[in-house]
Amino acid sequence: MKFLIVLALIAAVSADLKPLSKEQADEVRHAWDKVKHNEVEILHEIFKAHPDIQNKFPQFAGKDLEQIKSNSDFSTHATRIVSFITENLSLAGNPDLLPAIKTRVNEMGQNHRNRGVTKEQFNEFRSTLTDYVKHHSSLDGDAEHAWNQAFDNVFFIIFSNLDGHPVV
Ligand code: HEM
Repeated sequence: MKFLIVLALIAAVSADLKPLSKEQADEVRHAWDKVKHNEVEILHEIFKAHPDIQNKFPQFAGKDLEQIKSNSDFSTHATRIVSFITENLSLAGNPDLLPAIKTRVNEMGQNHRNRGVTKEQFNEFRSTLTDYVKHHSSLDGDAEHAWNQAFDNVFFIIFSNLDGHPVV
């Protein structure tokens, strides 16, 4: 029994937020800087790999990806997603700004919960985005570790919201 309690405590601690150090945040920003202007290409890669994500968007569902890719609706949404990442990364690595990140990500998680987006879809998104950054920028060693830590944190907040509990 004691053993189970210890295991449960370890699980609870390891599932918590691990904010990035300033150095880690700089490494992630450095990798992200090289791709952050490829908004349309990034969303295109995500929809191509995961049509179930595309189909969650009423304005894109069932449409030919190669055609919608050049619409202004598409680039507007691509810019929203990519800017969300850029803005949160600009706050990372500074403990004073952690509450601001939590507020934004809680809000985004709540909005996406209301849209019925699943954890599986978020994981699909993460995996395609990470592959994209690996292929178009430099992401290995410490930078890759920091990137994964950043996404573990953001996804911890999003998933808590999908479960109905904002992170305080
Ligand atoms: C993984 C599956 C996802 C699905 C199915 C999804 C779906 C949607 C939909 C349907 C909208 C509304 C679009 C509109 O009103 O034009 C939206 C808005 C938005 N999405 Fe996503 N999304 C996903 C992941 C993400 C991720 C990972 C990010 C950020 C990194 C993101 C950032 C945003 C932002 C910033 C908005 C606009 C503000 C808002 O309404 O929250 N989304 N998303």
